[in-house]
Amino acid sequence: MGKAFYLETFGCQMNVVDSERIVDLLEGIGYAQVDAAEKADLVLLNTCSVRDKAERKVYGHLGRFKPIKDRRPELIIGVGGCVAQQEGEKMLETVPYLDLVFGTHNIHRLPELVLQAEEKRRGSVTDFLDRETRLNLFPHRSVRDNVTRFVTVMQGCDNFCSYCIVPYVRGREVSRPSGEIKAEIEGLVAQGVREVTLLGQNVNSYGLKEDGELSFAELLNEVNQVAGLERLRFATSHPKDMTDELINCFGRLDKLCKHIHLPVQSGSDRILELMNRGYTAADYLRKVEGLKSVCPEIRLTTDIIVGFPGETEDDFLATLEMVEMVRYADAFTFLYSPRSGTKAAELQDDQSSVLKQERFERLCALQNRIGEEIWQQDLDKVLPVLVEGESKQGDGQLFGRTTWNRIVNFVGEKELIGMTVPVKIVKVFRNSNLGELI
Ligand code: 5AD
Ligand code: SF4
Repeated sequence: MGKAFYLETFGCQMNVVDSERIVDLLEGIGYAQVDAAEKADLVLLNTCSVRDKAERKVYGHLGRFKPIKDRRPELIIGVGGCVAQQEGEKMLETVPYLDLVFGTHNIHRLPELVLQAEEKRRGSVTDFLDRETRLNLFPHRSVRDNVTRFVTVMQGCDNFCSYCIVPYVRGREVSRPSGEIKAEIEGLVAQGVREVTLLGQNVNSYGLKEDGELSFAELLNEVNQVAGLERLRFATSHPKDMTDELINCFGRLDKLCKHIHLPVQSGSDRILELMNRGYTAADYLRKVEGLKSVCPEIRLTTDIIVGFPGETEDDFLATLEMVEMVRYADAFTFLYSPRSGTKAAELQDDQSSVLKQERFERLCALQNRIGEEIWQQDLDKVLPVLVEGESKQGDGQLFGRTTWNRIVNFVGEKELIGMTVPVKIVKVFRNSNLGELI
């Protein structure tokens, strides 16, 4: 009988893409994916270290697999992703039942590590690779009935925002050649993909460090021309690298969805400076105004950190003011958590966790009110929805998304998957809409 693997993925879309590659690699050495650790010969966690909570989860999860390994000592357990990159060899020492550790630049070496582990040899590879090697390793993954796909355009980050661990665990920025990106997208469309999201830690700086490469706005232009592609999105954008040329794309490119995720992190200039973000609140607002003027229907989402070291009530009020002014459709709000090795981890932080929690709740309450007002605008409207698949809700329901990236569930035939159909929004929930096919 063939062997089976169970894979769990944490964190951002980068990890989702890496996990797709992992699936391909493991299938290549005779493993088939299963949906529970109990049924597997190999268990893998693709991990995230961006915040403390994510990191602690990894150890908790590994603990869950220990009883299975006690019963079945031949079970192989492995860890990849950002926590693996950071901890490396140390993880093998602290977790005695762990067999293999692979870092963010070494996914291609997973098959070798698994084959070693089958022979009871534990292993860890977490070295960073040079630029040339990385350019050859941009993840190509097989398509499995996908309507939407992520396409990696750049990897790594050179921004060193003072709170952020990413530059340390993902390494320096490299941009993939635009010709290769276009070819991948053309190939995906030929296999039935209708929407692509161009992916990178900071897509706005795409190509800037490569001689003769297109700018990100030029890349969007090129991708917009791919015949058969219906929708185009990108993530994530850094406000400081958001050029007028890129802003104008939202008024010009017919396939570009009317949504942008533009992390603001804080509304206070003092905190933005301490965060090393490279823009002021006024700079950010100017870009938002630019976006809204070229594309009045655009909706924004954002990331905000509450409780950065030294944040005063005035700093926090500036963040609330930012939220009021931009009117985000949604925001991912985080309590600051120190990441060892980053600049911010050395800053004096004397606020109580009670105060931080209270601010966090005030921010969420404000954002929920604004988000709700924006989503309610869709009620009774007929909106184009790109149908992605069968809904988790069951009952013969399908799901798709509006241009604003909001999920719509509605009853319909499976033949509609991959098509853009008009759907009337009849109910608005916190995380999705309910619709009726027109
Ligand atoms: N503490 C809290 N939030 C963080 N983020 C990144 N690092 C930290 C940290 N140390 C948030 C930022 C980023 C998102 C992906 O995670 O808001 O945009
Ligand atoms: Fe982290 Fe800043 Fe890079 Fe985003 S831009 S990954 S927040 S360092």
